[in-house]
Amino acid sequence: MSLLQGCVLLLIAGALPIQLVMSQAAAPAPGASTAQRAPPFWLGFATSAPQIEGANATDGKGQSIWDVFADTPGKIRDGSTGAVADDFYHRYMGDIKIMQSLGVQRFRMSIAWPRIYPQGDGPLNQKGVDFYVGLVTSLLAAGIEPHVTLYHWDLPQSLQERFGGWNSSQVVEPFRRYARTMFDALGGHVKHWTTMNEPQTFCFNGYSSGGHAPGIRDTRQAYNCVYNVLQAHAAAVQEFRSAVPDGKISINLNSDWGEPYSSSAADKAAAQRMVEFWLGTFADPIYLGDWPESVKARIPYIPKINPELAKALNGSCDYFALNHYTTWLVTDKLGGETMQGRGDYQQGQYYADGTPIGNPAQSDWLKDVPWGFRKLLSWVKNRYQPSELIVTENGFSVKGEYQKPLAQLVNDTERVAFYRGYINAATEAVEQDQVPMTGYFAWSLLTNWEWAVGYTEQFGVVDVNFRTEERTLKASANYLAALFAGAGANTTSLGQYD
Ligand SMILES: *[C@@H]1O[C@H](CO)[C@@H](O)[C@H](O)[C@H]1NC(C)=O
Ligand SMILES: *[C@@H]1O[C@H](CO)[C@@H](O)[C@H](O)[C@H]1NC(C)=O
Ligand SMILES: *[C@@H]1O[C@H](CO)[C@@H](O)[C@H](O)[C@H]1NC(C)=O
Ligand SMILES: *[C@@H]1O[C@H](CO)[C@@H](O)[C@H](O)[C@H]1NC(C)=O
Ligand SMILES: *[C@@H]1O[C@H](CO)[C@@H](O)[C@H](O)[C@H]1NC(C)=O
Repeated sequence: MSLLQGCVLLLIAGALPIQLVMSQAAAPAPGASTAQRAPPFWLGFATSAPQIEGANATDGKGQSIWDVFADTPGKIRDGSTGAVADDFYHRYMGDIKIMQSLGVQRFRMSIAWPRIYPQGDGPLNQKGVDFYVGLVTSLLAAGIEPHVTLYHWDLPQSLQERFGGWNSSQVVEPFRRYARTMFDALGGHVKHWTTMNEPQTFCFNGYSSGGHAPGIRDTRQAYNCVYNVLQAHAAAVQEFRSAVPDGKISINLNSDWGEPYSSSAADKAAAQRMVEFWLGTFADPIYLGDWPESVKARIPYIPKINPELAKALNGSCDYFALNHYTTWLVTDKLGGETMQGRGDYQQGQYYADGTPIGNPAQSDWLKDVPWGFRKLLSWVKNRYQPSELIVTENGFSVKGEYQKPLAQLVNDTERVAFYRGYINAATEAVEQDQVPMTGYFAWSLLTNWEWAVGYTEQFGVVDVNFRTEERTLKASANYLAALFAGAGANTTSLGQYD
């Protein structure tokens, strides 16, 4: 720890030039002048360990499936790896100062499982635990409440090699043990937790399309993953109830919105099916006790949920944690194959005349469609009736941003437009549709390592120069800070921290 402390002091001293850059870049945020009142929910920024920490072989960390995937030729668009990324592992004190300057109330972070148990199971690496204790206590000392995700895609490679990772139920006990270790180590400080981030993405990209680690193309394995995720989530929540009785836990589920392409009954049903395949595959077992009928009817090999698992899942989410980015136009198509298997639908983002459904991002799957956000929030409220909902990711990658010179990229008007639209849509969902949304995490604080697309798709409101690690605020950072400046009054806290 003393070594870390020395490092921290150095970084604070070294933060001065960053402050200068920050004030230079503090261009008036477009739209900030049109006085908007603070939204009826709090603001935080979301991040994940493998995308920001770097230090991938430091202090005893083991290899994750993403460390191995990144080293496999042809898997990462720009050939990059997350070995250094934002070097957040060594620079987090400076990044906490940036958040303080923006008035950020909450910070969503993940823990790298291979830092804690380098082999997934087996011996504990105490240095890994110490790092996260240092991080969460520094956040709390700065007045920022940490929300912690246990699993953000960096499965210890050893578990993939030994039994096929999430395809096997053998993953459940190591996950339970890892979860218990972290609840015991951080539960006195951290009151908001999630077990897993976007199983929809890591099961289907990882085991069906193969575009993400571990790069497997076998939709049956993806559905085994779905089932094992639910078992591991339930097991971790069981530990949580005794370890952190005053905390709240959930699972981060992601879904795009599906809008019927036409007003035909068939397209309407297809759009509903798309959301059931994306979100219902995980949320229905948790909130309703079984897979959606539409999924069961089309995926005959999906594992059966036995009564014990259904019972363990019931009440396993204290709040609904939703990640959302975009909307698709959906048509009915018998035999329509997607990454999720045969869903009998087809999805696109362009109208017949070639007009996109919203402003296109750098990411080919992402268009700026705020009205879809409001519709999804209502859908979740109506189907699951959660007592509380927190949006745990929402953000935008500006077209061409990664190739722009700094002076241009900090003027990220399209990202500001995205945030303005989506936050207005969420405000309407709260005030007019009675969605019980209490908080909003923007994705992301820092430009980071974006998985299989490397550094070519950037979501941060703070730019990071990957040669110098210099941080620079974009207009969107100032926009969000100004917009939420009055929102602190509505912050609810679960209690006192030491
Ligand atoms: C807090 O939010 C609620 C809606 O969730 C709103 O009715 C109330 O006026 C807000 N309070 C403050 C002080 O902004
Ligand atoms: C760290 O990253 C490098 C580059 O991708 C990789 O070769 C190495 O295996 C990683 N080490 C660990 C322990 O993850
Ligand atoms: C995936 O899991 C299933 C069910 O346990 C098993 O039958 C199959 O052999 C596994 N596949 C691989 C590649 O490990
Ligand atoms: C969950 O448990 C509650 C309380 O025991 C019960 O009323 C409810 O029906 C259960 N829900 C499901 C989907 O089984
Ligand atoms: C930012 O970009 C917009 C166009 O996207 C332009 O109108 C505006 O002048 C730019 N502002 C600054 C400060 O460069």
